[in-house]
Amino acid sequence: MKTVTSLSELRAARAELPAPIGFAPTMGYLHEGHLSLGRRAKAECASVVFSIFVNPTQFGPTEDFNAYPRNLPADLALLETIGVDLVWTPTPAILYPPGFQTWVTVEEITQPLEGGMRPGHFRGVATVVAKLFNAVGPDKAYFGQKDAQQVAVIRQMASDLNFPLEVVICPTAREPDGLAMSSRNTYLTPEQRRAAPVLFQALQAAQASYTRGERDAEALRQVMSRVLAAEPLARPQYVSCADPLTLQELQTIERGALLSMAVFVGKTRLIDNLVLG
Ligand code: PAJ
Repeated sequence: MKTVTSLSELRAARAELPAPIGFAPTMGYLHEGHLSLGRRAKAECASVVFSIFVNPTQFGPTEDFNAYPRNLPADLALLETIGVDLVWTPTPAILYPPGFQTWVTVEEITQPLEGGMRPGHFRGVATVVAKLFNAVGPDKAYFGQKDAQQVAVIRQMASDLNFPLEVVICPTAREPDGLAMSSRNTYLTPEQRRAAPVLFQALQAAQASYTRGERDAEALRQVMSRVLAAEPLARPQYVSCADPLTLQELQTIERGALLSMAVFVGKTRLIDNLVLG
């Protein structure tokens, strides 16, 4: 496994790799969710590239950019175990040199849900992912369903900007109690960690209601809100039952739905989602 930092080293190492190339962009502090993307890429591609970069432009001014957990030696050891070929660890100065002023803005689909709560977040995500795609030139790019709106934004961006690659979505990796794996779970105290599976429990309760025939979206939002309200450590920011393609809130479920939520547990903001139908 080769690790490179500069763009010129990346390009030289990239040129040596056999195609097709699979690529998974990450912010590091890797867990089983990230590794599942790597394993899928390994199974489908001749070479696998990861990037590790905590992207400052996708964090809001009051968000956790400085506190975001980092452990490069542990990350590299994990990537080695799954047979990754090349790891790119650019610095902020490489991706955002002085005078940087070109941004990628995806419009409608970034407005609701996470976009509504985190202004500028998806501008930072779309910009950095476009830059990573340009530099790495993958044939397939791997993303997690955990960040459902991010997937929709990247698909839209890749299609609108004619990136010649396939976006592959991998299922959400969960802890045994249902909590979606996330680098941010490390912020939780033991007591908060015991409360955190309530997000998945709320999603499952709404799914059960859907399976029994409920098609009223507001009824499903209420099922989720009631489960969350029963956990004193959980403070929901939004609870959504939206169209899986447009991400607009639904009244009636006709062709499936994306259930999603953002919930504070202490100071930690957790997100989770589940697709119906
Ligand atoms: P990060 O949060 O590190 O996640 C990197 C990739 O891993 C994303 O595609 C994310 O959806 C996926 N992932 C995270 N947790 C997962 C889980 N429990 N199961 C399955 N996949 C999971 O998402 C980002 O970084 C950044 O926004 C990035 C795309 C790298 C741009 O900076």
